[in-house]
Amino acid sequence: MAFRKIADLRTIVTGASSGIGRELAIELAKHGARLVITARRADRLDDLRKTLKSLGRDAIAVAGDIVEPATQNAIVAASVQEFGGLDALINNAGIGALGPFALADESRLRQVMEVNFFAPVELIRIALPELQKSRHPIIVNVSSVLGHRAVANKSEYCASKFAMHGFSDALRCELAGDGIDVLVVSPSTTSSEFFDRAIDGDDQSAARAKDGMSPRVVARKIVRAMRNGKHEIILSFGGKSLVWLDRLCPPFMNRVLARFR
Ligand SMILES: NC(=O)c1ccc[n+]([C@@H]2O[C@H](COP(=O)([O-])OP(=O)(O)OC[C@H]3O[C@@H](n4cnc5c(N)ncnc54)[C@H](OP(=O)(O)O)[C@@H]3O)[C@@H](O)[C@H]2O)c1
Repeated sequence: MAFRKIADLRTIVTGASSGIGRELAIELAKHGARLVITARRADRLDDLRKTLKSLGRDAIAVAGDIVEPATQNAIVAASVQEFGGLDALINNAGIGALGPFALADESRLRQVMEVNFFAPVELIRIALPELQKSRHPIIVNVSSVLGHRAVANKSEYCASKFAMHGFSDALRCELAGDGIDVLVVSPSTTSSEFFDRAIDGDDQSAARAKDGMSPRVVARKIVRAMRNGKHEIILSFGGKSLVWLDRLCPPFMNRVLARFR
């Protein structure tokens, strides 16, 4: 649980082309971090680089699909080549999927698990030797309140975030001796492109998300938690209530959540 300075922190941000990842890159740049930004949409990364330049910071952009081992290796290699190492890995890239499990085929589950779980975990595996050399290393896994309490019609997504929570808890214990912090972030609904792009998404869910948290506020809270060496943050009052009520009385939450599909 180290207090760390963000200035000059050599940091990878995945999913930086929109939403929380884009705002995280901007917030980290304001604090003086040195950034590798990545996502598939190269034009969005170019646009972000221009914004970062206007703040007086340059960034290395690596465009590619995060599930590809070649992209994962290229991201870590970019930080090592350009900055001489790596201090912070922020696994933020993610996708959603909506609808009953019974109506979906296997590909939906595979796709969600590939992006939300296998890709970040393999990126951590590749990054670890570099993080072990850092003075104040940290891994940040952007999960969800739905990684604490699952709900209907998001079974694949909830499974991917529960997997990330379990993995992160185990890794935190394993890496404590190396001084590597593992921070799990649990946002509630956030106003981004997430629901517009969700697999089998619908207009209603996308419209509801417009009233969600601001990605800028989410980014600020994440950077504050990184500075303070936190291990777990739940970002909204609603999210905290959901998690704590569920821990106190799971049968009650099961009844409540069965009504809201
Ligand atoms: N929005 C919410 O309500 C909410 C709530 C709780 C947790 N979260 C979590 O917060 C994180 C960020 O979500 P967001 O709300 O900012 O959503 P977003 O605006 O849709 O951003 C998702 C980012 O992930 C990237 N991405 C998706 N698939 C990728 C792939 N195969 N390869 C590389 N990059 C990929 C996207 O970039 P490209 O498409 O350009 O590749 C984009 O930059 C996710 O992990 C999500 O699960 C979101």
